[in-house]
Amino acid sequence: MSAKKATPDHDHDAIHKPSKEFSVKARIPSMAAYKKLYKESIDKPDKFWAREAKELVWQKPWSKVLNWKAPNATWFEGGKLNVCENCVDRHAAGPRKNKAAIIWEGEPGDKRTITYGQLQKEVCRFANVLVKNGVKAKDRVLIYMPMVPEAAIAMLACARIGAVHTVVFGGFASEAIVDRLEDSGATVILTADGGWRRGKVVPLKPVVDEALVKYKSVRRVIVLNRCGNEISMDADRDAWWHEEVAAASSKHVAKAFDSEHPLFVLYTSGSTGKPKGILHTSGGYLTGTYSTCKYIFDMRDEDVYWCTADVGWITGHSYIVYGPLANGVTQVMYEGAPNAPDFGRFWKMIEEHGVTIFYTAPTAIRAFIKAGDHFPAAHDLSSLRLLGSVGEPINPEAWNWYHKHIGGGRCPIVDTWWQTETGAILISPLPGATPCKAGTATHPFFGIDAAILDDAGNECKPGQDGRLVIRKPWPSMIRTIYGDKERYKKTYWSDYPGLYTAGDGARRDKAGNFWIIGRLDDVLNVSGHRLGTAEIESALVSHPAVAEAAVVGRPDDMKGQAVAAFVTLKGGFNESPELQAELRNHVGKVIGAIAKPDDLHFAPGLPKTRSGKIMRRLLKELVCTGKISGNITTLEDFTVIESLQRKIAKPV
Ligand code: WTA
Repeated sequence: MSAKKATPDHDHDAIHKPSKEFSVKARIPSMAAYKKLYKESIDKPDKFWAREAKELVWQKPWSKVLNWKAPNATWFEGGKLNVCENCVDRHAAGPRKNKAAIIWEGEPGDKRTITYGQLQKEVCRFANVLVKNGVKAKDRVLIYMPMVPEAAIAMLACARIGAVHTVVFGGFASEAIVDRLEDSGATVILTADGGWRRGKVVPLKPVVDEALVKYKSVRRVIVLNRCGNEISMDADRDAWWHEEVAAASSKHVAKAFDSEHPLFVLYTSGSTGKPKGILHTSGGYLTGTYSTCKYIFDMRDEDVYWCTADVGWITGHSYIVYGPLANGVTQVMYEGAPNAPDFGRFWKMIEEHGVTIFYTAPTAIRAFIKAGDHFPAAHDLSSLRLLGSVGEPINPEAWNWYHKHIGGGRCPIVDTWWQTETGAILISPLPGATPCKAGTATHPFFGIDAAILDDAGNECKPGQDGRLVIRKPWPSMIRTIYGDKERYKKTYWSDYPGLYTAGDGARRDKAGNFWIIGRLDDVLNVSGHRLGTAEIESALVSHPAVAEAAVVGRPDDMKGQAVAAFVTLKGGFNESPELQAELRNHVGKVIGAIAKPDDLHFAPGLPKTRSGKIMRRLLKELVCTGKISGNITTLEDFTVIESLQRKIAKPV
């Protein structure tokens, strides 16, 4: 045996074929079966998607599967359905009535199990509350809540009455709420007094109050009593959730809405300006999330599924609320941090609830690796049969650790590539069919015509880097950027007219596997969360001491990417550790703690081209390698780079 051969534990090139035991029971049991159905789905997408959509309940059938004039798609035209009825009522009306829909744990250890029958009553009550408070179809409702079942109930109740929810992650600050209120025009907010995180109460209602000092058009705030922390209530505007619900009937007849009725707007970072509101609609979105859960997570009635995302992100929308509930599965939902009270929390919960499918992010896996193998080793994880990963490329170390220490070497891992815009997973292994290799999302899902193109629009050869595009529309695709059709067209459909550009760089290997390299634009991926460098820069510049700011990403072992900021100060302000801390906190206040720069460098000037454009490329090189070796001939002032280089010079 050659001395170089890696131990199996670190054999990053190993190909993991699904076990026979898994494959024989899987919906798609082999690559041959995948290839056959994939070909059909690409040759006759209408046929494939119609078959999937027919597994949902439609109150009126569609007349046309797809109407496509790039970049505008209409899916299931003429069809009418109620998304909430599909996720709740149809299960409550049948044998799943007494089946657990949500098994929830609060961070302090409180527990609740909600059956499909109970979920129906809760959702109907809250739908009646919304109606009583004047919410009508197409009205926007902002949801700012902790990870409690009421967050899902709120979303489903909106869907039930045709209102458009816009969920804001509970870690975002008041200005982020103001931006989203302004852009969406929401007039009702659903929130809680607070939520539990790492043993502490994170206040939420006070953040809403702060936002409403600036934004005056909200007429009703409904507040869940979760933590009992002290908050103030405005007698004319605010109402308690429990009081509203107590007075509401648990009966509500779900009306059908057009397939293209808007379901939600979710804001996400782009390369320029403020976050964009990604609009998803009803029939196509539900078909996409339903179908991907069925095939990629191979969901069965006996499964206990757990996705650790927050409902504030697209993963929580598609793979906590809509997809799993449309499949009638039992799922675990958890309020708090993975290390509360210690890094054994997840494994304890998997053992206790008999979780069979577990879906998390590489950044969490890396934190578990650091915490130590003894945490999972102390628990019986033999109930698990399938693992998933999402949010960023999964590095081989994390993949192998996940496979061995959580999956016991027996569970397939589905590395799922997708985006807020795609609504559902587009590239992923199918667990009973696809041979997996650490770090590749492998092959496109059914109906997804993915390709990698060079700048001229030619398809890249195996091994060649290019841009990831999708060449055919798919049901759960973004319909527009809320209120900005032009930006929608320009952002996603103008690099190669008629093709969707994802903004990710990628390459394929000889076997056809897709390897996602990362964002090509000025979007950072910090712990699996999308952050726009432009947003962080404008937050920094909004501080009175800051003249100019530039933000770039640098590689980070735990977070994937970390935020590095360069700041020039206005006259009269001096560099100091205090000001450094203040500026970091300022970003936390404007956007949220996740956006705080990890490194903040004071700079006498920023490297610019002669036309005045900041050369972020050079700053990136500097933070990644400690020096600049690239082309700097277009620089306006060479001394700027020299002084920055001296400042952050690293010992080689
Ligand atoms: C990245 C999250 C590699 C990618 C669902 C994408 C991934 C962005 C993967 C979308 C993956 C997501 N492998 N990269 N499996 N999953 N990404 O909108 O850069 O928050 O464009 O959606 O995350 O982030 P978003």
